[in-house]
Amino acid sequence: MSVHDNGVATQAPKVGTAGNYSEEDHETWRKLCERQSQLVQGVACREFLEGMPRLGLDFTRLPDRDQMSQRLQRMVGWTLADAQNEYLGPTEWFEHLAACRFPVTDYIRRPHELDFTPLPDLFHEYFGHLAFFTDQKFADIARRYGEVYLKARSEEQQLAIARLWWYTVEFGFVRENGELKIIGAGLLSSPGELQHALKPELPKHPFDIRRVAAKPGAAYSYHDEYFIIDSVDDWRAIIDTYARMEGLEA
Ligand SMILES: [Fe+2]
Repeated sequence: MSVHDNGVATQAPKVGTAGNYSEEDHETWRKLCERQSQLVQGVACREFLEGMPRLGLDFTRLPDRDQMSQRLQRMVGWTLADAQNEYLGPTEWFEHLAACRFPVTDYIRRPHELDFTPLPDLFHEYFGHLAFFTDQKFADIARRYGEVYLKARSEEQQLAIARLWWYTVEFGFVRENGELKIIGAGLLSSPGELQHALKPELPKHPFDIRRVAAKPGAAYSYHDEYFIIDSVDDWRAIIDTYARMEGLEA
């Protein structure tokens, strides 16, 4: 599940029952994991590559939400919220984050959608996002985004915070020892946009809060430019700076 800045959280179709997957679904998961774990080598940021073994995903069988939720709870105190059968608006999304819950869907894309699914499925959630949530520092900063969002007093501020999230956690780049690496889960879990974003001709700018706050995200197409943060600490500094600029401190 992802929050998008058009004011409507993207929502997976309501299908099946949690955990009730066919062998074809497991095979889709296996193929996605196999391909994507190759593609992210050398381009994913350190936090992702170090977090993945801690997460302990089985690349051959679809994950069990309760089991993964318990694992994250033991590691960082976060749980996975069941977002499968509820409408999730941006405010609900950030309420979950403020309460240390990461909303996930149980939906897995159809076999003919291996390359692209317009709706985030559980491959995006588990493969793209959850490795980061094995890191206490990252998890604490994610909660901070939720807390600041809930202090916003205008739709403009809410939209800005959703975009600061979108262009870092979903589609961001990070500097690592002088190289550009990928931190965005939307890129790490998408073979198509990953390769698109890595093209040298695609503009990548230093992260600028005002510029990003004014830029809508692309939910149904690839982005035409990306933004670079300096580190995970910088990701924290972005939300803290925004909160200070807008008077959203406690
Ligand atoms: Fe996402």
